[in-house]
Amino acid sequence: MLNIILCGAPGSGKGTQSELIVKKYGLQHLSTGDVLRAEIAKGSELGKQIDALISQGNLVPDDMMYGVIENYISSLPADCKGTIFDGYPRTVSQAESLTRLLKKYGMEAVMIDLLVDEQLLIQRLIERGKVSGRADDNLNTIRHRIAVYHNQTEPIAHYYLHHGNYVAVNGNHCVDDVFLQIERILDK
Ligand code: AP5
Repeated sequence: MLNIILCGAPGSGKGTQSELIVKKYGLQHLSTGDVLRAEIAKGSELGKQIDALISQGNLVPDDMMYGVIENYISSLPADCKGTIFDGYPRTVSQAESLTRLLKKYGMEAVMIDLLVDEQLLIQRLIERGKVSGRADDNLNTIRHRIAVYHNQTEPIAHYYLHHGNYVAVNGNHCVDDVFLQIERILDK
């Protein structure tokens, strides 16, 4: 089973590369951002709380995210080839929870870290913001999301490096070239 944690700053290409990986390798794709936006779209009380956090560019609390991941992993079909975790984990505490949960089901995961220069991240997200309708795709919130990424998410790279499950990819190139690097890693 091939479990991939696709990590990277906002706009690094996690969603874009996930789609390509799904197409070629037939993995399941879990985007925690999509799960949270779906909850917001329902207009539930929980969705309103999530909306307040996401639209400011802040993370949703770890305990709320744990339920999402536990539900997902415990209901994976028996013939599942593996999962791309897109946007999870985002804190060291989430990484520790994920390791424990995967271990419980006899699985592990490798982290692929998409490294992209900050100016390029901002450019991509501003461009996407013209059509995405996402409340967090505006310059102030983008800057805050990137700061949150540096403070809370970047440390998980050390966590996976320490556990020997870490590969970095240069995400500054065009979509196809980034995917080529990922294919080389996955085809090993
Ligand atoms: P999430 O939806 O995961 O957003 P994000 O991490 O900010 O990432 P983006 O979707 O903005 O970018 P991406 O890296 O997927 O890039 P994409 O492929 O779209 O999370 C949103 C929010 O939910 C978080 O801020 C947080 O509040 C909350 N949340 C989610 N998970 C959580 C968790 N685990 N814990 C707590 N809170 C959580 O590409 C971006 C743009 O660039 C696109 O227009 C694309 O076409 C373009 N592009 C992509 N690659 C390239 C390329 N190589 N060259 C040129 N353009 C490119």
